[in-house]
Amino acid sequence: MKTVCVILAAGLGKRMNSTVPKVLHRVADIPMIQSVLNTANRLKPDRVVVVAGKHIDLIKKSVETEGVVFALQKDAKGTGHALLCARPSIRDFKGIVVVLNGDAPLLDPDKIKRFINLHKKNKNYVSVLSFMAKKPGSYGRVVRDKSGKVLSIIEDKDAGQAQKKIHEVNSGVYAINSNAMSLLNEIKENRLKGEYYLTDIVALASRKGLKTSAFCIGTEEEFMGVNTKEELYTASNLMKKNIINKWIEKGVNFLDADSVFIHPDVAIGRDTTIYPNVYIEGHTKIGKGSKIYPNVRILNSRIGNKVIIKDSTVIEDSDIKDMASVGPFAHIRPGSEIGSEARIGNFVELKKAIVGSGTKASHLSYLGDTRIGKGANIGAGTITCNYDGEKKHMTIIEDGVFVGSDSQLVAPVRVGKGAYIGAGSTVTKDIPPGALALSRVEQRNILNWARKKSEVRKGKGKNKV
Ligand code: UD1
Ligand code: CA
Repeated sequence: MKTVCVILAAGLGKRMNSTVPKVLHRVADIPMIQSVLNTANRLKPDRVVVVAGKHIDLIKKSVETEGVVFALQKDAKGTGHALLCARPSIRDFKGIVVVLNGDAPLLDPDKIKRFINLHKKNKNYVSVLSFMAKKPGSYGRVVRDKSGKVLSIIEDKDAGQAQKKIHEVNSGVYAINSNAMSLLNEIKENRLKGEYYLTDIVALASRKGLKTSAFCIGTEEEFMGVNTKEELYTASNLMKKNIINKWIEKGVNFLDADSVFIHPDVAIGRDTTIYPNVYIEGHTKIGKGSKIYPNVRILNSRIGNKVIIKDSTVIEDSDIKDMASVGPFAHIRPGSEIGSEARIGNFVELKKAIVGSGTKASHLSYLGDTRIGKGANIGAGTITCNYDGEKKHMTIIEDGVFVGSDSQLVAPVRVGKGAYIGAGSTVTKDIPPGALALSRVEQRNILNWARKKSEVRKGKGKNKV
């Protein structure tokens, strides 16, 4: 049987106390709605429909929208009304409509697949996924008769004392057969809130004798809805822990996992060790047996096998090949590539710098818009002067070049293979392969200068220095 997935994301999110639409709040650095969309896509439905409200344009801009259909719910008149707004987008559809809440970022797609299978196996018209909540709080309670048959879902605000004590609650995940969707038209406005509650579809179906179940297969943690900043913080911590546990299971070592943040899209190879206070973000991939020392931030980068990233280093949109070593206190800016076994040391900044294998730049350098070959040595304090105030220019340093300390390379410039640059040189012209370039003022030694100077100061000397 075919499925479509409808995500309800048009609520006002007043309890969030924020100008940002609720479903765009980030959990583990991903907007909640994006996490729900990722879950929906993993179910491989025929169509994904997002119901959004007045923030529809902002939501469209903030998520990956490929293959997603948007439906507008102009006024937030409740979850039942929201699903009605999705109907035109699934008009001819025959099959199962799976409904997800846009504020449930921790959903496990496998659990939802199991739920859909139960719905099919039981030949239900309407199914709802429920879980046992320690503190049922604001969740809708699942009301059953003595035989266990589900009768209705009662919202906390409408629940009597006895109903408030029910711990089985509605997760906000539903499976509804397309031929039961017309029940939406029969949902009455809730007097207390002036909204049309989707939860009422359960009582409507049950009363009409259409087969309805609540499958209590969820856990509080995976189905938690995020309505407040406090819940957002709880959800973020849960997601963070889930991600770290996954990598621990896959053989990654952590010294202090609580202080580490790993983005959900990151991949890490086994036997890699992550020290405290490390942030690994975006689509970063780290190979096997690497070491990431404390206070490192890596964004959208590829780190190879047996790489060492030393303390307090920032790496952005770059590529670090096997067995290279970077840091401490290095800044690898976008577009850089560090070859295998290369060494980038302390206080070195790279920007769009391709560094060949085995090359060393160990101390205090700026290397921007540059291509450096293999086995080169970049001395302490080397600067590529890549910017003339208007344009950026390239510096090419070929294989095996030795750049003496405190040299400036004024781009565009090329240093030929195996050339040497004497320390303290300002290079403004290309250097042929194998040549030595020297551009510093020749040294002069003035003998006995210090003694003569002191004599002048004491008024003894006749001559000025
Ligand atoms: C809802 C359920 C509750 C369930 C809980 C699970 C209802 C009436 N209640 O409560 O039984 O236990 O989820 O987390 O359904 N939305 C719209 N349009 C609207 C209102 C809401 O699209 O007019 C969206 C929201 O953006 C949100 C979702 O529907 O993503 C749920 O709405 P919310 O207001 O958070 O409902 P809860 O009070 O949490
Ligand atoms: Ca909610």
